[in-house]
Amino acid sequence: MERLDKILVSQGVGSRKEVQKLIRSKRVTLNGEVVTKPETKLDAESSEIAVDGQALNVKKYIYLMLNKPQGYVSATEDNLHKTVLELVPEDFKRKGLFPAGRLDKDTEGLMIITDDGDFAHRILSPKNHVWKTYYAELDGEPDESVVSAFERGITLDDGTKLLPAKLDLLGNNRVRVKITEGKFHQVKKMFASCGFKVIFLKRESVGGLSLDGNLPKGSCRELTNSEIAAVFLVK
Ligand code: URA
Repeated sequence: MERLDKILVSQGVGSRKEVQKLIRSKRVTLNGEVVTKPETKLDAESSEIAVDGQALNVKKYIYLMLNKPQGYVSATEDNLHKTVLELVPEDFKRKGLFPAGRLDKDTEGLMIITDDGDFAHRILSPKNHVWKTYYAELDGEPDESVVSAFERGITLDDGTKLLPAKLDLLGNNRVRVKITEGKFHQVKKMFASCGFKVIFLKRESVGGLSLDGNLPKGSCRELTNSEIAAVFLVK
């Protein structure tokens, strides 16, 4: 059960103040009856909400793009560190939100936060070949032999065999790397196995979805339908 005003805000009807005004001015109905209390609790899935007689097609899940800054952990709760969920504005907050894929505390960039478990699973499962693209700065200049090693699939020191990855050399110790898996510290471990330390790491895209260059660090916004679909387009 959720508050009516919160549901309307989450569906993009307006800000908290605006929707409260709409409700108080009798422009919102719940199962055909006018409601005047913004705090009315209801189950959005089984109720029919209308604004000015126009039925609202309540979206089941929420999909957010976060421009993750350094210093936040990709967890829903943590006793020691700030979590990425603390960056989600109140109006987008709902039960069951979690980051679809982890970034290290010192990694920044594109993070998708959702409450749709199947969607997250599809992104993360290597079977689906959703390429995750990272920009990295290293403590040295890799050469073509590293590109080939990534292409063949790196075997980590603990014996873990990784899937082939794509590496672009950008010069001045900078690279762009694409992987389909998301193992713990994967990019850092791949470079470590070739003798390099990653000193800066930023995720630029997930599948065909790129980080919005106009989204300030630490901010979050809803994904559009075409952006949600773009995640599964090959890039
Ligand atoms: N690989 C890493 O090593 N760290 C990240 O945060 C993401 C991928």
